[in-house]
Amino acid sequence: MTYLVTGGAGFIGSNYIHYMLKKYGGAIRIINVDKLTYAGNLENLKDVEGLDNYRFVKADICDADKVRAIFESEEIDRVVHFAAESHVDRSISDPLVFVKTNVVGTAVLLEAAKAAWENADGSFKEGKKFLHVSTDEVYGSLSEDKNTFFYEDTPYSPHSPYSASKASSDMLVKAYMDTYNFPANITNCSNNYGPYQFPEKLIPLVINNCLNGKKIPVYGDGKNVRDWLYVEDHARGIDMVMEKGRLFETYNIGGHNEMQNIEIVKLIIKTLREFLPDTDKRKQRITEDLITYVGDRKGHDRRYAISPDKIKKEAGWEPETMFADGIRLSIKWYLENPEWMERVTSGDYQNYYSQMYGE
Ligand code: NAD
Ligand code: TYD
Repeated sequence: MTYLVTGGAGFIGSNYIHYMLKKYGGAIRIINVDKLTYAGNLENLKDVEGLDNYRFVKADICDADKVRAIFESEEIDRVVHFAAESHVDRSISDPLVFVKTNVVGTAVLLEAAKAAWENADGSFKEGKKFLHVSTDEVYGSLSEDKNTFFYEDTPYSPHSPYSASKASSDMLVKAYMDTYNFPANITNCSNNYGPYQFPEKLIPLVINNCLNGKKIPVYGDGKNVRDWLYVEDHARGIDMVMEKGRLFETYNIGGHNEMQNIEIVKLIIKTLREFLPDTDKRKQRITEDLITYVGDRKGHDRRYAISPDKIKKEAGWEPETMFADGIRLSIKWYLENPEWMERVTSGDYQNYYSQMYGE
């Protein structure tokens, strides 16, 4: 079984590749296609680099010729599409690259998969599937009423250029399913956290700033709510949708872990103080005095919360890692991998590809 994983050098993609190779070993083959933008870090995957059943291809998913060539040179059975521009703040200052990668890139991939998988009569070869990884941000923002959730049939109402571009990509996948019976699923998940997350996102940014005695920027009143999902639970959910999800269906994946941003910031400070020994000089600086309220993000969505009832009922998926445990696992990982953070923040990780592949 050959998987084409796009964006596998990013945060969720690299966790997914680790999960899959650990679970299925030599029974699967993974081709990781990634452009290696600032968010792509091949060092995340250095432990699988030498495996016979793993191959890395540096390519832009917008490059139709290159993408088509991959489908022509490999018998791809399954596509898991993570590649995207993923950071809301960047989408506010530079929206066009989001439209290009997230919308055009998805269209290019769909077209290449369709061309490779379609029979002469317009049906599709047995066993092929395209899984499009998307976000709950396409549904817009919820009120603070704790009884409201995003469901699979919640109307789309994206607010940021990021979520609008992801909503557009979802619509393209839906159009391929409706028009061509193209074999696909869409998953919409909540905020992920865990190892290998780029420190522009809230949790690794707070950990990194604390360890460096830097101020922690909290947007607005700090009471925006996100529904946090441990990245390995997400990887398992994607695999379960691939195996058990009904074709043409959308599945929401969420952790039932709603937290206000400020609660998370305070929890990270408390946990870091608990983990670090008194002799560690950094500990004295890690206090709530680092918290700095800054201007709010433009169009800042107030609350996200997902109902994962459908994936639970149909595929048997449930989150296994509650936030109280997942945040400790994550903080431990960043404390135990200081060189990873050092190479990401210094930019050195971007030399890894040329050193490994000599290009
Ligand atoms: P990420 O930013 O960490 O990684 C994105 C990866 O895509 C990088 O390796 C990057 O090099 C690659 N990429 C970007 N543009 C490319 C292009 N044009 N061609 C080929 N590769 C390209 O993102 P992530 O957090 O791992 O998110 C993965 C997917 O999950 C995205 O589609 C995102 O929208 C979705 N998602 C993420 C979250 C989250 O909390 N991180 C939540 C919901 C959905
Ligand atoms: P982020 O990790 O960027 O994910 P998303 O915007 O996709 O939900 O942000 C999570 C929340 O944290 C969001 O409400 C914005 C807030 N935030 C801050 O308050 N300060 C920061 O420095 C960052 C990056 C985010």
